[in-house]
Amino acid sequence: MAHERFQTVEGQINWNDPMYKLYEKAKRNGGWNPADIDFSQDREDFLQLREEERIASLPLISSFSAGEEAVTLDILPMLHAMARQGRLEDTMFLTTFLHDEAKHTEMFSRWQQAVGVGDLDLSAYHNDSYKRIFYEALPEAMERLYTDDSPEEVIRAATVYNMIVEGVLAESGYYSFRQIYKKSGLFPGILQGIDYLNMDEGRHIQFGIYTIQRLVVGNEERFKLFHDYMDELWMHAYGVVEYLVGLAVLQREQSNFESQIVFEPDIMRQYAVKQFHIRKSKIDRARKYKNLTELEAAADS
Ligand SMILES: [Fe+2]
Ligand SMILES: [Fe+2]
Repeated sequence: MAHERFQTVEGQINWNDPMYKLYEKAKRNGGWNPADIDFSQDREDFLQLREEERIASLPLISSFSAGEEAVTLDILPMLHAMARQGRLEDTMFLTTFLHDEAKHTEMFSRWQQAVGVGDLDLSAYHNDSYKRIFYEALPEAMERLYTDDSPEEVIRAATVYNMIVEGVLAESGYYSFRQIYKKSGLFPGILQGIDYLNMDEGRHIQFGIYTIQRLVVGNEERFKLFHDYMDELWMHAYGVVEYLVGLAVLQREQSNFESQIVFEPDIMRQYAVKQFHIRKSKIDRARKYKNLTELEAAADS
């Protein structure tokens, strides 16, 4: 495809574009380096845990690792689609997005290496729901953009990637991890890393929200497409949460000692449900506007 024009030659970057603002935020806040995080206390903590407790920490780690690796590998078609559509500010932001995900993948792998489980195969902790989302739905929806970057397919891709994987599963995962290990006073290194990750994910989810909003605004069919796809994916997303929470409950019940690790299963389930509804309601806010011009005017201001 030949270029017909260049935005920064005919004019300039749209400095007020929401995506450009996210790009600026990413440059400002996203400069942390996973290699700078000190995991030595995490290693000590891990080694002093009972074996059952060490094992109990692995399902969530295994979900994070695969999740971050998947989103690192699968974001490219979105970047490609935005570039091909001439969306310069989106493309610029997505370069930081891809770099963020690479660092997230690095962070978890470094932690696993530091505590001594780097070579363990943890894939047994991915249940069918997890596989449905991370092994199938995510790459399928993203890769489709290479051949079809219509509004409908961009909505589907951003729904599974930004709303379900990031907005529901990653957010709930970080929350649970914090709940468990902050209260238990363990793993300060990875907790610091998760604070950084959380900030990055906020920008990523913002990208998804705005992308979906601008495509559904003023179009009832596309609103329905978004909600239907969210509902379809929810069963699997909740299946991941329920499996991880259930596993933790089972491990606790089967242990015959008072664990130093405390957690409340219902709070985690409720948190995931809440995230799901928040994502939907964020998109529904676009109903306030009649069309894209109105939405853009509001985002610009
Ligand atoms: Fe991430
Ligand atoms: Fe992300």
